[in-house]
Amino acid sequence: MALFRGTSVQYPSPERGSMKALLKDPKLQADFEQQGFVVTRLFSGEQVSALLDLYHQHIREKVTGLYESSRHNTYGVNRTINESIRDQIVIAGQDLFLPSKLYGGTFMVKSHIDSEVLPLHRDWNVVEPEKYRTFFVWCPLVDVSVVNGCLFVLSGSHRYFRSLGSGSYPSDRFILPPDLHKHTEDIPLKAGEAILYSDDLFHGSYANNGSSDRIVVTARVMEEEAELVYFQKASERDVDVYQADEEFYLTHIDQLAKGRLPAKSRRLYRRPYRHVPVTDETLQAKIRQHFPPPGSTPMKQLFRDVRTQADFERDGYTVINLIDQAQVDELKAFYYGLEHATVPAQGFQVSLDNASPDFVRTVSERLVAVVSGSVDKHFKDHKIFTASFVTKAKAPLGVVPPHQDWTFVDEGEFWSATIWCPLVDVSIDNGALGVIKGSHRLYDHVRPSPSPQFAPPFKDQLSVIFPYLTILDLKAGQAVVFDNRTIHASPPNTSAEVRVAFGIGVTHEEAKIRHYYLLPGREKPLIEGYEVEPGFFQTYNNARLSAMHSSGTKPKDLNSLGIFTLTPRNYGANQLKEAMVAAGNKEDTALVRKMAGLFGNPGGEEKSTAVGADQESPAVHAKRALPFWKVYTPRNIAREIRYRLSK
Ligand SMILES: [Fe+2]
Ligand SMILES: [Fe+2]
Repeated sequence: MALFRGTSVQYPSPERGSMKALLKDPKLQADFEQQGFVVTRLFSGEQVSALLDLYHQHIREKVTGLYESSRHNTYGVNRTINESIRDQIVIAGQDLFLPSKLYGGTFMVKSHIDSEVLPLHRDWNVVEPEKYRTFFVWCPLVDVSVVNGCLFVLSGSHRYFRSLGSGSYPSDRFILPPDLHKHTEDIPLKAGEAILYSDDLFHGSYANNGSSDRIVVTARVMEEEAELVYFQKASERDVDVYQADEEFYLTHIDQLAKGRLPAKSRRLYRRPYRHVPVTDETLQAKIRQHFPPPGSTPMKQLFRDVRTQADFERDGYTVINLIDQAQVDELKAFYYGLEHATVPAQGFQVSLDNASPDFVRTVSERLVAVVSGSVDKHFKDHKIFTASFVTKAKAPLGVVPPHQDWTFVDEGEFWSATIWCPLVDVSIDNGALGVIKGSHRLYDHVRPSPSPQFAPPFKDQLSVIFPYLTILDLKAGQAVVFDNRTIHASPPNTSAEVRVAFGIGVTHEEAKIRHYYLLPGREKPLIEGYEVEPGFFQTYNNARLSAMHSSGTKPKDLNSLGIFTLTPRNYGANQLKEAMVAAGNKEDTALVRKMAGLFGNPGGEEKSTAVGADQESPAVHAKRALPFWKVYTPRNIAREIRYRLSK
């Protein structure tokens, strides 16, 4: 230590070559260098039991949130816990660790009652990071997975930055967009298995949605020569390095966390250091540098036919001949035989929105039974994840405004689409589906529920989009298959006959189905992702999710994929028009005239039955007649259209 006393300071070398290995197994040590962490068996079954006994003997209070035993108990109790844990680690570490020092010995518990996701962060540096090796031992005494609070790590991220972490140089918590978060690695562990990780590694942990508390043992292993220190900012150019020991950290943690230094702290030396805090931008840039960008690997085909696949990829939709007349007749008969097949006042109905999950399931099963063979003729290695009738009765103002469907899969890897198939011939007069060609490439954000709480980035531009729709005239049994990102809408049904259609969600067989939900009560828009089974969509429709959002809650008992930021692209109106035209869309004057005619009643009572942000696919289940986007009413569209016609 003499080296560091007084003013004659030998600064730690930036070369790490002189650092000592801590792990006996050279392969494990090499993996640690490379990834910033390794996973290994630590405790035997007996040791796990002994440590659980120790836990229950001393921790009797009800644990909430993230609980560290060292912060909640007397010094005496903590010492007993520390020593007992260390004894077990010493035994376990005989085959694992090279001669080293062992610190800590704490229970880190994540309550199953009220825990949250702990976003990516780095821990404090407690030794000179360029001079000594150390790692943190994190060993659960119960099996851990994404369900009950296992860690997720960003492999290799310990080499991204060289900035120090301490109370004086706090690490932010980083929430990533989903396309970057996917590069983090989940670390599920069996009881007694441990992850050993670098202080510089970005890591976080899932919420504990399990049925019991997640009990983890933590400790620190470091080179024998290393000393515990604390880093305190001296100036913009220097850091003061203080002597620390375990008691220092235990006793003063709260004060340190506020950036304050305890009285009588002993400064060892001052060295030059210019702190560059890690920001969202710099971290995201590093991740982009280290991982291949989305789209760099070719995606699998979803359609059997290569040319249909190519059309679908280029335009965001394609039209196929799906079912024959006999199937059309069978489904029509089934539809009209349904007890709930009454046509709603607003003219629009989606069977998935039915309050009875049994009804939803019955409809879904029957639809799948009748059409799955036909679907199979067009799609390879696929699966169906939703199936529903979408019905539109005569209602002159019943517009389904332009919208995108929810996100159902990792769209960087898989295609997901809605097959929309009418059981009657459809045209502009009876609610045919309209699409914006190429619009699946316009936005790249994840599309969460619920509506209206989540409004798309083009919410103020619906009247800009509407005239550019391509209305697809289809024969009964023909279907449009559109990418769930494709903007679609439909004009009102002004004919006497009910327009019965069905929508089926289809994706690759191997694709995991997800659901993203806008978290309530957050300052910045944050979404949580869940891994779901198709049955999820039978119980959680938009109406239910929207009500949950309003009451400040979220879906429960699901595997969380984590919490993410949401930053959709935004276009100016002219930019958006240009993009639509560039993708091959044209203003449809017949559509504009028809809409203007329908809505051209300026003095009339405002009976805007703007059908929800909804539908025309089972994929978005917005409740109808919600005041979804205040700016959008059919009347506003009509105004805009009349204005255009008068020009
Ligand atoms: Fe941490
Ligand atoms: Fe839709």
